[in-house]
Amino acid sequence: MSAAEHRLVMFGPPGSGKGTQAALLAERLGVPAISTGEMLRAAVEAGTELGNRVEAIMKSGALVDDDTMEEVVRERLSAADARHGFILDGYPRTIPQAGTLEAVLAGRGQDLQAVLHIDVPEEELVRRALARQRADDTEEVIRERLRVYRSQTRPLAAWYDERGQRVAIDGHRPVAEVAASLLEAVGEGA
Ligand code: AP5
Repeated sequence: MSAAEHRLVMFGPPGSGKGTQAALLAERLGVPAISTGEMLRAAVEAGTELGNRVEAIMKSGALVDDDTMEEVVRERLSAADARHGFILDGYPRTIPQAGTLEAVLAGRGQDLQAVLHIDVPEEELVRRALARQRADDTEEVIRERLRVYRSQTRPLAAWYDERGQRVAIDGHRPVAEVAASLLEAVGEGA
């Protein structure tokens, strides 16, 4: 485990490997990987009020509204295990969400160490998602998630560039190679 505090965002299109890499990096850095997609899928599975509210939206490939996501993320980041570090996977996904995260962290006297932008060509993203066959992974829904990514999430790259926080990582390589680049990007390379 590293002594430094790591507050990281894993950013990239659906299927780029954010979840895969967040889990590896979290283990190596000793901080929790927080996937908003997984949290929402767990809520749907458990049939909670939140799950019932977001189920149809997720099935369509659209984004859950910013206010709901703010509630989910504020609560999760206030848990004891996330006070001194975390890797957010799948949040923020819109400029308002990025503003919320910045404000939540500023309220704790913190900011992000880096936004790790994993990029992968679109056809490879579709191939990976179809191979995985999750319930929300039909080709139609995957294409919709990619369209939503391009219009609502991709603009965050420029937003984080303005803050000098974005690091671009080529995700079209074997998992271990991508993982090594990410470790290097957060100052924990071999
Ligand atoms: P979410 O679960 O975050 O979906 P996503 O962004 O579409 O992410 P994926 O899980 O599809 O991809 P990933 O980048 O994590 O890649 P993975 O490691 O799994 O969100 C789902 C839904 O929840 C959203 O559509 C939305 O409705 C809602 N939601 C969530 N957060 C929200 C927010 N902030 N605001 C609003 N709505 C929100 O890898 C994919 C596959 O590729 C795997 O099979 C993996 O084994 C494979 N793979 C990974 N790396 C490699 C590699 N290097 N080479 C070959 N294969 C690889």
